[in-house]
Amino acid sequence: MAEPTGTVISVIGCGYLGAVHAASMVALGHTVVGIDSDPERSDALAAGKAPFYEPGLDEMLAQGQATGRLRFSTDIADAAEATVHFLCVGTPQSHGQHAADLTYVESAVADLLTILKPDDVVVGKSTVPVGTAAGIADRVRAAAPGADLIWNPEFLREGFAVEDTLTPDRIVFGVGRDEVAARARTVLEQVYADILASGTPLIVTNFSTAELVKVAANAFLATKISFINAMADLCELVDGDVVELADALGHDTRIGRRFLNAGLGFGGGCLPKDIRAFMHRAGELGADQTLTFLREVDIINLRRREQSVLAVQSMLRGQVAGRRLAVLGASFKPDSDDIRDSPALAVAEALHLMGADVFVYDPRARAAAERKSPQLHYTDSALAAATGADVVLLLTEWREFTTLDPEALGQVVAGRRIFDARNALDPVAWTGAGWEYRCLGRPSAGRHLDQA
Ligand code: UDX
Repeated sequence: MAEPTGTVISVIGCGYLGAVHAASMVALGHTVVGIDSDPERSDALAAGKAPFYEPGLDEMLAQGQATGRLRFSTDIADAAEATVHFLCVGTPQSHGQHAADLTYVESAVADLLTILKPDDVVVGKSTVPVGTAAGIADRVRAAAPGADLIWNPEFLREGFAVEDTLTPDRIVFGVGRDEVAARARTVLEQVYADILASGTPLIVTNFSTAELVKVAANAFLATKISFINAMADLCELVDGDVVELADALGHDTRIGRRFLNAGLGFGGGCLPKDIRAFMHRAGELGADQTLTFLREVDIINLRRREQSVLAVQSMLRGQVAGRRLAVLGASFKPDSDDIRDSPALAVAEALHLMGADVFVYDPRARAAAERKSPQLHYTDSALAAATGADVVLLLTEWREFTTLDPEALGQVVAGRRIFDARNALDPVAWTGAGWEYRCLGRPSAGRHLDQA
């Protein structure tokens, strides 16, 4: 029996979102060409190698290549045979302001319009300010008869990107209202047929709502994290324990335990810039006051970094200059090599500026961190970073750090002091092994010992 070929798809922009989307669409049986203007990225993907670390992606790219239904190119002309085109380019924060930079979206749309055929469907997945999709839809419709736009935001988390793409919590379609829109919707439903058949909820709405779902979700998640971090500050003042507090709050199913991990706060390529762009957009819409709480969410989050620096300073009795520090983790979260707006790297850089000798170890993010912060030292293992250290800082909760043996690590350090910025270690085990244990939002480790 001939192999099913599904729909012929183009994916414009092959970063985290696009590369994963392209490979996932092949896994669903479609034929895909990924277009990325960066030849290095496009070549790497064509060779079956993701230009970033994402669990499972290399295997999926290799499987995709083996089917003969996945290829990559830098030339938009190669997208001409596709009938469904996914826009997956980035929308970073603009230089010097909070607004999203739409340069990549603009140029991707302009390129796409040059090759658009009648009845083609363009699917917007990039995170954009509300109101962007309607303008793109007008241009798509004007470019070719029967062609239309659907806004279909992506909610993937780095580290779980493949899983989030193939088994998402929900699918959202922002669509127009006429016959042309109805046809485009049917086409996209066919593309996602397997995912929808497995019972994934589909929400069909208008463009603005679809755009808002994405930024509102990220704003809510960021607020949840800053909320629990504010509670952590209060816990410090009254000898409360923010981990136990989060556990207790999380049992209320209206609240839920996920995204209530207090610590160093959020970073990465999405939450920080998305809440800022959302505030900016609200201001443009005349609703300046509506999202001012997000400014506080941002401030609480950035303060976590200062508080971490101060905590380490106090562990060193104020004397940071000339001390040796081991920083475990450089990526913005575990299972990722992404260092964009990484809280871990920000803390490492700040302590270096105060005169400390900072030795960083990260299982995956070393190359990227070294490029961004060459002033720091880098090592190939946690043990090497910790050798001779006056304080060990756990800043990203990679599994290999949360399972470290306090006794083995204790053998190589200059002083048994650990700052657990992610509340990821067992304070009893570490203090029991003779470590001075410090974290954010939990009582002094002594109380844990009393209770043990
Ligand atoms: C996020 C959204 O989760 C995803 O739906 C969206 O599509 C893109 O942005 P991502 O940036 O991959 O995904 O990371 P996420 O897992 O959300 O974590 C963001 C940051 O929050 C990380 O720095 C993480 O360490 C931090 N975090 C997360 C906390 O500090 N506490 C928590 O409880 C959860």
